[in-house]
Amino acid sequence: MSINSKQNQAIGIFDSGIGGLTVMQELMKRLPHEPLIYFGDTARLPYGEKSPEAIIRYSIENAIFLMEQNIKLLVIACNTASAFALEKLQKIFSIPILGVIEPGAENAVQSTRNQHIAVLGTKGTIKSGVYQREIEKKMPKARVVSIACPLFVPLVEERFFHHPAARLIVKEYLAPLHEQKVDTVLLGCTHYPLLKQLIMEELPSSLVIVDSASTCAEKVADILKLHHLANATDQKPYHRYFVSDDPKKFQSLGTDFLGSPIDHVEHLSSGFFSGKHP
Ligand code: DGL
Repeated sequence: MSINSKQNQAIGIFDSGIGGLTVMQELMKRLPHEPLIYFGDTARLPYGEKSPEAIIRYSIENAIFLMEQNIKLLVIACNTASAFALEKLQKIFSIPILGVIEPGAENAVQSTRNQHIAVLGTKGTIKSGVYQREIEKKMPKARVVSIACPLFVPLVEERFFHHPAARLIVKEYLAPLHEQKVDTVLLGCTHYPLLKQLIMEELPSSLVIVDSASTCAEKVADILKLHHLANATDQKPYHRYFVSDDPKKFQSLGTDFLGSPIDHVEHLSSGFFSGKHP
């Protein structure tokens, strides 16, 4: 295939469900001419509570589906899947593949002034220690406080963005931060940006809250340029959405994540993934 026809191919994005739309939103802003194909594995959400083996298997299957859509680059827009499956996918597939951990760590390191960073994530992401390692690689003297916040995902899925129950839970999870000198909080999960307002209200106003999405979009732009894969046209690109369960819920909740309406969501049949992994 010539470089030119590759440039017209889409970027593939997958997440365990809906949260990766926060990354998709940044990609749409930063790369307005790139076609994007999103897959949300809503039937198997949440990944944050699953074993590493299951997360790797799901991630391979999701990637195979997107490869079949002829994508030119893959973004793993799920922190938990990035934590456990990025290296494996990079070994299996030959196109550029990017996760959200390294961009998130970079954002946190650029933001901190006192090298004291808090990372909030799912149980899986926090247990993997991957953010801590990535931050320490970039800033060896960094002190990292990691907090698993397993109830944040269901709160967001219920649209409890400003609900008093959500405020109580945010208060409870973030209590240890009041004894720390942290100046930057990294939202290490795709759902958490929707609780940002509440999180900000529960923490001293001097703290900076960052996430992976904008830096990830910036990295994608760099990789496309480096590999001569950027779409050279100025046409309005297509954006397609696939899910493994309940397209209606995805469509309605997705608007909150994406900040704009989703016209159409395609549903993959339940047998789709059987026997697809190598
Ligand atoms: N997408 C996941 C993440 O960023 C959160 C939801 C889940 O647990 O599947 O870690």
